[in-house]
Amino acid sequence: MDATPNVTEVETVEAATDEEAVAAIEAPVERGEPILQVRNLVKHFPLTQGILFKRQIGAVKAVDGVSFDLYQGETLGIVGESGCGKSTVAKLLMMLEKATAGEIFYKGQDITKLSGRALKAVRRNIQMVFQDPYTSLNPRMTVGDIIGETFEIHPEVAPKGDRRRKVQDLLDVVGLNPEYINRYPHQFSGGQRQRIGIARGLALNPEIIICDEPVSALDVSVQAQVINLMERLQNEFNLSYLFIAHDLSIVRHISDRVGVMYLGKMAEIGTDTEIYEHPTHPYTQALLSAVPVPDPESREGRERIILTGDVPSPANPPSGCRFRTRCWKAQDKCAEEVPLLAVPQPFKGLDTPAAHESACHFAEEKDVVHAA
Ligand SMILES: Nc1ncnc2c1ncn2[C@@H]1O[C@H](COP(=O)(O)OP(=O)(O)OP(=O)(O)O)[C@@H](O)[C@H]1O
Ligand code: SF4
Ligand SMILES: [Mg+2]
Repeated sequence: MDATPNVTEVETVEAATDEEAVAAIEAPVERGEPILQVRNLVKHFPLTQGILFKRQIGAVKAVDGVSFDLYQGETLGIVGESGCGKSTVAKLLMMLEKATAGEIFYKGQDITKLSGRALKAVRRNIQMVFQDPYTSLNPRMTVGDIIGETFEIHPEVAPKGDRRRKVQDLLDVVGLNPEYINRYPHQFSGGQRQRIGIARGLALNPEIIICDEPVSALDVSVQAQVINLMERLQNEFNLSYLFIAHDLSIVRHISDRVGVMYLGKMAEIGTDTEIYEHPTHPYTQALLSAVPVPDPESREGRERIILTGDVPSPANPPSGCRFRTRCWKAQDKCAEEVPLLAVPQPFKGLDTPAAHESACHFAEEKDVVHAA
């Protein structure tokens, strides 16, 4: 058992019947308690050869043993370079992909093993907001139909006669004129379309919203408005967010805690202050160092780390530490032993912000140039 706050003990809920499972899923969770507990999550996409007789010649190890908790009411940010497995984690949590191994506990029940009404209840409670507001909305459907479509599958949330009013309420909640209900997506700006995407995500009164690069496709000025809206909605509806993005400044702004992924694994995880002010993993230090700093004074005397080389293929990751082919601190041990995600030895038991989980054999603090 890992006793660190990022991975708490799972209190499994045994439900003998579908009714019991649904009751456990609908039960409230106290603020600050874990609502989602991901354990050793693995997704390998098979690589096949041959046209008629396909045979597996390997696997893309997109997600390879990721564990974390999401607490009720918090925002957990996930960052990392392109291809490190962020969206695959999102799809696994949404059950859009089937996990190769591992467990996803929602309020103590492993959702990878649920079926029937219990699975439907979980699907209602975990919703997603997608990256691209241009392609994620069907251009041939009105906004009312896009947002209201989900009530067909979950009529218990809004009975037929009540749906139009419910959709108009949702438009109002996300700052759009309820009279726009009959308009089509092309009649809206990018920011407005993402508000529609958020309204759709909220329609079923979920508890968790998985946001995969929700503002990356928007202009900088619009990004701030959408982020502010998301923060307001989080407070209003008591939501927990998993917020995936590659913009480190945005992630810091919205997140309570941040996880840094590299090549299918979690490299470092901690509070926003721990990760941004006291990173101990060389990869996090390099990522932060790449963020431009507007203030010349805070740049002075600090080292800039240039991350060289490409991310290796997840079909053939390096042995030991996956970051070692790009790490300036790599030693023999790094090729031989996989570093575990844990509070590094030098900081164990100390009351310092550096005492957070980092998967590096030689974790240490480093004064790097990073965003204020
Ligand atoms: N359906 C699939 N089949 C095979 N490989 C896949 C599939 N989906 C994703 N991958 C591979 O898995 C790895 C992780 O992809 P993923 O989309 O999760 O990364 P990401 O961190 O979201 O990247 P980005 O920042 O570019 O969105 C990549 O190498 C990708 O090519
Ligand atoms: S374990 Fe070794 S290669 Fe990996 S980040 Fe730490 S020092 Fe670098
Ligand atoms: Mg992605």
